Amino acid sequence: MSKLLIHGGNKLFGEIAITAAKNSYLPILAACVLCEEQIVLHNYPNYTDTQSMCKILSSLGANIDFCDGDLIIDPSSLFSWGIESDLACQVRSSIFMLGALLGRFKKARVAYPGGCEIGARPIDIHLSGFKKLGVKVEEKHGYIYCNAEKMHSGTVLLEFPSVGATESLMMASVLLNGETRLLNAAKEPEIVDLQNFLVKLGAKVRGAGSGEIIIEGVKKLHGCEFTPIADRIIAGTYMIGTAMCGGNVLLKGVNPEHLRALIDKLDKTACVIEAKNDKIRVTSDGKPIALGKVETSVYPGLPTDLQAQILALSSISEGSSMIIENVFESRFKHVPELIKMGADVHVKDRVAFVRGVPHLYGASVCGMELRGTASLILAGLVAEGYTTVSNIRHVDRGYKNIELELASLGADIKRIDD
Ligand code: EPZ
Repeated sequence: MSKLLIHGGNKLFGEIAITAAKNSYLPILAACVLCEEQIVLHNYPNYTDTQSMCKILSSLGANIDFCDGDLIIDPSSLFSWGIESDLACQVRSSIFMLGALLGRFKKARVAYPGGCEIGARPIDIHLSGFKKLGVKVEEKHGYIYCNAEKMHSGTVLLEFPSVGATESLMMASVLLNGETRLLNAAKEPEIVDLQNFLVKLGAKVRGAGSGEIIIEGVKKLHGCEFTPIADRIIAGTYMIGTAMCGGNVLLKGVNPEHLRALIDKLDKTACVIEAKNDKIRVTSDGKPIALGKVETSVYPGLPTDLQAQILALSSISEGSSMIIENVFESRFKHVPELIKMGADVHVKDRVAFVRGVPHLYGASVCGMELRGTASLILAGLVAEGYTTVSNIRHVDRGYKNIELELASLGADIKRIDD
């Protein structure tokens, strides 16, 4: 099992081209099931989560090739509508396949999904949406059986703007006769990216990003080439890392609008941010001021996927912060590990009270889930002495060689085997 060995204290200087968004690539890979012609996806990021989704597509019968950073998918030979537990349990995004399989085959048999352990992560909003559209749903023996022979268009009001449920229902409706409306739909940039991909395939989808998405069914889709957006969470992670370490880092290929909430929070407190076109420059003296009250929420609010990284920043910021996690009910697993490094944090329910300390010190810490592990890495970059971060398979799910990217900015970090 690999670990990361970090010697803290270096400032970060340089530039990084941000890789494609994991949370765009995953639903887009699922949506390939809806098409029977070749699709080319550019800037394939090769995270372990995207690898898992490619394995699922292959298990369904799709042919997948990799060429010069492109993913070439031929879904014409798809023959199966079932996803077994050993594959489904590796990623949350296996549940997105439900909608795509219903769109293609009018039936599906999918094992319960996996994903980061940051809460119960139920799928009731997904399933109630399908039932509203006439899908027969049965849950037994760890599988979800869906029959969409009698599926019809209609209006679905999501009780919560669930990202995955929005995406799954979009995909289930693109080949459905009539007009389907999704109300209280998620507004994340990755939802807009999925809409743009579906439209490129010939689907009629509009309204993504507004909270109300309208899908007008079409008979068939055609192949296309597509480049998913850059990963705003990776970019946000490196912005926060620069604010913590000090330095001057330019992030390229990312849309600053997708990080407006973070930029508003960090600018002039933890660092100075210059955002223009598809570039974000972060400069910092490495002496951040506490952010005060921070609340995560659905887009365009502060992303829950940056909460752990902001907590690491707060642990060394001058002053106190209160971090409220409004999206997932169990997303503070990184706190005990940060406390091992000298952080002063108290968690009560969904609130973390953080008092900034002059410095953290290196320790052996253990990653528990994707973004929490990223926050431990950021803490190691500023801690005195050496930090080892174990279980880094979690961070490999959504960052491509994070240690190489950070080392390219001057961090003293390397991957070591046990
Ligand atoms: C997506 O997860 C992302 N994953 C998550 O990123 C992200 O944190 C999350 O959206 C919120 O932005 C992917 O896109 C692969 P939700 P998803 O459905 O779709 C509750 C990362 O680090 N809920 O919007 O699972 C749920 O429990 C990962 O990259 C229900 O109650 O998120 C949670 O409290 C982590 N019933 C809230 O809604 C449902 O049927 C938001 O979940 C579905 C969700």
